[in-house]
Amino acid sequence: MPLVDEIEPLKQAALAELKNAPDLTALDHAKGAWIGSHGKFTALMKRLAMLPKEEKPTAGKAINQAKAELEAALADRRAELELKAALPKEPTDFTLPGRRRALGRLHPLTQVTEEIVRAFRKIGFAVADGPEVEDEYHCFDSLNTPADHPARDTQDTFYLQADANSKPETTNRKLLLRTHTSSVQIRVMEKQQPPIRIIAPGRVYRRDNADATHNPTFHQIEGLYVDRGVTVGDLKGTVEFVFRELMGPETKIRFRPHYFSYTEPSFEIDFSSSLVKKMGKDWLEIAGCGMVHPQVFENVGYDPEVWTGWAFGFGIERIAMMRYGIHDIRLFYENDLRFLKQF
Ligand code: DAH
Repeated sequence: MPLVDEIEPLKQAALAELKNAPDLTALDHAKGAWIGSHGKFTALMKRLAMLPKEEKPTAGKAINQAKAELEAALADRRAELELKAALPKEPTDFTLPGRRRALGRLHPLTQVTEEIVRAFRKIGFAVADGPEVEDEYHCFDSLNTPADHPARDTQDTFYLQADANSKPETTNRKLLLRTHTSSVQIRVMEKQQPPIRIIAPGRVYRRDNADATHNPTFHQIEGLYVDRGVTVGDLKGTVEFVFRELMGPETKIRFRPHYFSYTEPSFEIDFSSSLVKKMGKDWLEIAGCGMVHPQVFENVGYDPEVWTGWAFGFGIERIAMMRYGIHDIRLFYENDLRFLKQF
């Protein structure tokens, strides 16, 4: 048989094998058998050299065309098989629900803080802020807390390492972690003139051993109202409004005389509600408050003959524990998702 006539049947046989290769291994095998260096089709090409000169152009052209066809078939089948290999072996169920990205949420203390802030915003209070690393002056002296006051005992306060170069006259500027948010009252009054209506939520620090009701860091919210002719009645009305917003409309409050160095008179606030009753009590102490002491106004350069005001402070954890029935304060700080996810 002349060589030209062998091309077509050989090509058909090669095409059939390439196109029907069931997987990539079989395809490589077919490639070797036909167009590899020892392949049957390659052998045909080698014989081209032995043809008489006048037959070479026609035969050469036919062989090259057939070879191009085989290579195209090989590439097509390879692409098909590679795609098939990349697809999942199991059939895909497109009706299965997708994987949801876990959504974060606000910490329960943040949620309660935001609720308290919302209640105060309704009656015109703005949020103020101050540093957690405070100096002794803003945390104690300016609040009329004398140097020998028990609140200044090193047992209660975290002092920061004193600067070895600090001069004696700056010793009341020793740095500490603020023990209450009351320092923000002073920071605000130093910066602006009355009327003032602010609340200041924030973290505070005390040297305490952690137990179910104590933690060395916790959160407070401070309030300060300064204007002309402010009375204890305003204070009581405001506190009552806010606690009813937070704890329900049947909430009652009462004031008991107390002592704070920065207020005169000073009170402790007790409140009563269904939550308190559930704890088997009639009243629960919740906050400290009073009318701003004239000396505090003097310290910030306000004329106490002109300005009057009240202030209060309470712990946020306490409110959150009551709201959610949490019995151990430490749960707030452990970052255990099983706890946090419940809010
Ligand atoms: N600073 C007080 C505390 O940490 C709370 C407090 C009491 C704040 C009376 C006040 C206040 O502004 O007038 O226990």
